[in-house]
Amino acid sequence: MSTVSTSPLTFAENISKWVEEYGYVPIEPPLGIDLVAEIQRLKREKNAVLLAHYYQEAEIQDIADFIGDSLGLSQKAAETNADIIVFAGVHFMAETAKILNPTKKVLIPDLNAGCSLSDSCPPEAFAAFKAQYPDHKVVSYINTSARIKAMSDIIVTSSNAVPIVQALPADWKLIFAPDKNLGLYVMRKTGRDMVLWNGVCMVHTIFSHQKVRALRQAYPDAELIAHPECEPALLEQADFIGSTTALLNYVVNSPKKRFIVATETGILHQMRKKAPDKELIQAPAEYSCSCNTCPHMKLNTLEKIYNALLYEAPEVTLPPDIMEAARRPIELMLQMSRDLGLVQKG
Ligand code: 13P
Ligand code: SF4
Repeated sequence: MSTVSTSPLTFAENISKWVEEYGYVPIEPPLGIDLVAEIQRLKREKNAVLLAHYYQEAEIQDIADFIGDSLGLSQKAAETNADIIVFAGVHFMAETAKILNPTKKVLIPDLNAGCSLSDSCPPEAFAAFKAQYPDHKVVSYINTSARIKAMSDIIVTSSNAVPIVQALPADWKLIFAPDKNLGLYVMRKTGRDMVLWNGVCMVHTIFSHQKVRALRQAYPDAELIAHPECEPALLEQADFIGSTTALLNYVVNSPKKRFIVATETGILHQMRKKAPDKELIQAPAEYSCSCNTCPHMKLNTLEKIYNALLYEAPEVTLPPDIMEAARRPIELMLQMSRDLGLVQKG
């Protein structure tokens, strides 16, 4: 006869139940507390590090121990001595940190922070796609789930995709997944043919090519800078194409004063901080909307970061065999990036 426990749930069990139900800890922090000071205190007490992507809200970027693009963040995650990593970004980024640190606790403020691009590449469909090209190697963008990474030969980010693909043995036949636009850009830059998975980012594909063209006519002195996840018709017009970090560095170092920025809005905070004398115009979307704000990235809040640190939940967990298989292509990317001199400083 099976027995059903009727004892009330412990506090820890309640936290797990809520995380399962909501994807985050839905407890209101005490009224009037200084969240920033409390987050800093918890980080110190628990030897935790807060890593944040440039697409986070300004207030999160300002308290992070490291802010960066996907490559910089994975390099930081690989070298941290912290016991706990709190990842203010999206799920695939926190998963990458966990794969590189299987014995550390990796927390994500909200498990719902996914990625349209990663979601566009489901593992079963990708396995069937890959099976059609048995003699091909798989180059996967870091914006993929751990299961896709486990099926890949090497991972790339928007910072290193071009030099890494260029450096791969010339006789390798390649599949590139999941971002079609980044894949096309890499093909154009390297001259290599690749079989492309048909995925896109919901944020970088909403810019209106016509409105951007009209803006350029209105501001002929402005340079158009764009992330390679944007559509080819927009990239064709761009004066500079690069990862989030590359776009930031370009604005800081360019003698030009005005820029039309075609990427997610979060990076404007760092551009304004590091280059306050520059004028930044956000590339317009097709419709009047804030669609160039990533809704996944913006699920993270100071409250959720505070709760994540306090209750040490939600935690990112993965099956050991998937972590093992996904680590190899990520570590190959980190090694090739070092060899190519692509190491980002914090
Ligand atoms: P990077 O961080 O490589 O610039 O990529 C941008 C992005 O869309 C992250 O999800
Ligand atoms: Fe994914 Fe695009 Fe959001 Fe980046 S900006 S996390 S690629 S949906």
